[in-house]
Parts: sequence; structure tokens; C-alpha cells
Amino acid sequence: MKISFAAPSLPKSGTLCLGVLEGGTLTPAAEAADDASQGMLARAVKGSGRFTGKAEQILSVPAPADLPVDRVVLLGLGAPDALDAHKAQRLGGVLAAELLAARDAQAAVQIDGVDLDGAELAANLAYGARLRSYRFDKYKTSEKPEKQPRLKGLKVLTKQSAAAKKAFAALDQVASGVFATRDLVWEPANELYPQTFAERCLELADLGVEVEILDEKKMAKLGMGALLGVGQGSARDSRLVVMNYRGGKKSAAPVAFVGKGVTFDTGGISLKPAAGMWDMKWDMGGAGVVAGVMRALAGRKAKVNAVGVIGLVENMPSGNAQRPGDIVKAMSGTTIEVLNTDAEGRLVLADALWYTQDRFKPKAMIDLATLTGAIIISLGEYNAGLFSNDDALAEQLSAAGKAVDEQVWRLPMSDAYDRMIDADGADIKNIAGSRSAGSIVAAQFLQRFVNDVPWAHLDIAGVTWSSKGGPLAPKGGTGFGVRLLNQYVAEVHES
Ligand code: BES
Ligand code: MN
Ligand code: ZN
Repeated sequence: MKISFAAPSLPKSGTLCLGVLEGGTLTPAAEAADDASQGMLARAVKGSGRFTGKAEQILSVPAPADLPVDRVVLLGLGAPDALDAHKAQRLGGVLAAELLAARDAQAAVQIDGVDLDGAELAANLAYGARLRSYRFDKYKTSEKPEKQPRLKGLKVLTKQSAAAKKAFAALDQVASGVFATRDLVWEPANELYPQTFAERCLELADLGVEVEILDEKKMAKLGMGALLGVGQGSARDSRLVVMNYRGGKKSAAPVAFVGKGVTFDTGGISLKPAAGMWDMKWDMGGAGVVAGVMRALAGRKAKVNAVGVIGLVENMPSGNAQRPGDIVKAMSGTTIEVLNTDAEGRLVLADALWYTQDRFKPKAMIDLATLTGAIIISLGEYNAGLFSNDDALAEQLSAAGKAVDEQVWRLPMSDAYDRMIDADGADIKNIAGSRSAGSIVAAQFLQRFVNDVPWAHLDIAGVTWSSKGGPLAPKGGTGFGVRLLNQYVAEVHES
């Protein structure tokens, strides 16, 4: 779908999308089209018992009299003063979903008569439409034509088309970052494994990101026994990828993003049950977000220094796999009793976090991981778990999440939870041995590898894959976290 911006004029064909305010009041553009079609739009609104102009409602009016277009889609806007950038994105998303489902080929949208600035409104409508129009179809070889998307172009009509185009350019780069993450999350594990994931990261070099790939030999030299132990049962070698983007002042410390990249999690010798195991192809979701946010920041030339570090491993059972009870030594020197090989993400992050703070001395370090099933029980699909050693950072991330509707909910950490991972045969153990507070225990484990840098951990196990889809994403990989971290960088590190 190609998105363009143009000055308002009545389209000669295709679908025309216009706004209606709460209570059924036509916006000026809808009013004009209504006048041109013998009052047909107003009558359609009045005749509908369902459509009231409430935000995100849709009413389709086919082949309106005296208008050259094939149909008019009326879009509920809610109250004129209630629209903000994010709500405009949702409207764009809802509209795109309608146009795609109806298999329209061409559409134009003009929304006016609300308080939001015209360029901002248009750019965010377009952004939402682009986000919602994502599709992962590279492995579909025999899709029926009537199932394939037909929408070729969406034209956003606004008096401020030049300003809208400019505002959209940056948002479009963020969308490309979100799409990069969704692509990675969708990929099956026979195609996406540590080596191929690392190769994909190399593509970021085109945008000026410096990409470095550490193989097993290098990691062994650094003493990354925790990460390497997880990958040791796999026929695929592990990797650590470092992505460095310098858009800020030369001397400024970077903000660091660290991701869990388990390209498939069978559980290892502590094998998972068969039902639903296919979901573990997206156990690299945290690493996917890190790659996507680096793509977004570099793409929109953010004025920040940012480093992304991802630990890439495949967790497999085999004759060479790590056993329950094995003791490994992390890069920090801490010894870990691996009582459950399925609690592997924390082992990968232990070395990735330590390496990141040690090498880059970041001013803040944020990790993302599909870390625990327990966070799905706690928060479901609509909040990521937030854990932090720093109240200010936790606040900043919460605010960023609210602004882009990628919500996070903070959970507590404390010494009492930390005691739960003290081990008998080593410094710490990788599970507590009871099911209680599973997500907190995992966060406490990570914190053992964090020194005094402001740090936050986002447990995204519940939000990485959407079973139903939402206004800004079809079902499947969501890219949750890219827009949040992009917003956090914009708010905290660029202004
Ligand atoms: N990757 C899983 C967590 C997960 C579960 C992510 C479901 C997405 C959907 C993680 O590696 C894991 O297996 N965690 C265990 C930890 C337990 C052994 C302490 C869990 O949550 O059951
Ligand atoms: Mn696991
Ligand atoms: Zn896992």
C-alpha cells in the first residue's frame, strides 16, 4: 500500500473516507460530499441505528448518488477536542483494516473539523494505516487471489500536505522498525537461527549502524559461560550481536538496549510439552525489538547514541545439551546452578547485560525478553511487565508506554525475592524451586548481573504475539516495544 498526501479535492474513483463527529454531526468535508450527493450521507447516518460517530465506528455508503466514487466510508471520530496523535493513529488503523477487508483498490481520506493540527492528524492517520496494513506472507505460495490484499494506495487529503508528508517521514521510519521486528518474530526457527538473525542485523549497516558479530570462540574468550551453556545442545552456533548507532554528541554515553534472542526454546533437557511449543519460535522477541528499535532510530536519524546488544542462541536437547544441575560461570564471575534448562533466557541475558554495561558504560540499560510464562498469567496480552532499580527510569518508560499505547506495569523487586535464588552448590540458581512470583524471581536473577547503572527489564512474553490483533497490528507478531523505546528516546534523550 502506497501512502501519499495531497491537497483536498474530490477523488474521481475508488473509496472516499470522511469523518463524522460524536452525535452524528458531519465534518466540513463530509458535509460538502453530502451536499454533492443529495444529502445521502446524512440520511445514511440518520438511518443507521448503530453508527453514532463514536470514535472508530465505521459506516459504509455504497455508490452515493452524483459522486464519482465507488463508496464512501464514514469514520467515527468521537468528540472534536478528544483527538490526539495516538487516537489519530488508531483511526488510521481501523480505517486500513476496513479498506483491506472490503478489498478496495484505491482510497482517499479527508478528516477535518477537529481540534488536532491538520498536518499532525494526517501524518498520524497515515502512520496508523501503515502499521495496521502489515502482512507476513513470504511463505504463502498458493493464496487465492481473493484473499490477497488489493489496496494499492491510500491518499491522505489535507490542506497542509507538505507538512504532513514531512511529519510522516519520521513516523514511517519507526513503522519500518516495527515491521522489521514483526518479520523477525514471524520467521520460523528453521529459517531464523543465530547465524541468520545476525546476518539480518548486518543490513542495518546501510543506515549507518555499526554491527559487530561475536561468535562462540570470542564469547568463550570473554567468559560467557552462561550464554554458551544454553546454546551448547544446538547444532546451530550461538552469536552475540552488537549494534552501535551514533547520532548524538561524540562524548555522550549511550543508552543501551539488550535483548533475549532464543531463536527456538524447546526447554532443553527440561523439555517443554508439545502443545503450543511452536510459539517458542518467537522466543527471540526481545532481540527482535532491539533490532527494530535500532532500525527506527537510525532510520529517522535520532539525535542519540544508542547501542543494541542481542544474545542469540537455540535451546535444544541433545547429547551435548546442558543438564539440570550443571554449574556454569558467567562473564561476571558468578557461578550459576542450572536447575531447569528451560529458564534459559535469564542465562543468556546474564552475559549480555554484563558485557553491555562493562563495555559501553551506558547511561541507562533496558532489556527486553519473552522471559516468563508467569507474566502472561499476571498481565495477559495488554501490558508488559516492568522491573527496575531506578524509579525515574521506570516512570519514563511508563510514560512512554502510555503515550504510544504500549503499556507497561511495574512489579516489585526486593531482597526477600532475591534470597529465593541463593543456591546450595553455587553462587545462585536459575529457578527458585517454587512457582510463586516467577516473573519477579527472573528479574531478580537478571539484577544480579547489573551494577549501579539505571536498569529496567521488560518482560514481553505476553505482548510479543497477538492472538486477535489490534487497531495498529493484525494478529501475530506485534513489534511491541519498538514504538515505546522510540518514544522514550525521543522524550528523554533527544530533548
Ligand atoms: N520462553 C519461556 C517463557 C515464555 C512462555 C515465553 C510462554 C512466551 C510464552 C521461558 O524461557 C521459560 O521457559 N520460562 C519458564 C521459566 C521456569 C522454568 C522457571 C516458564 O515461564 O515456565
Ligand atoms: Mn525456556
Ligand atoms: Zn525462553
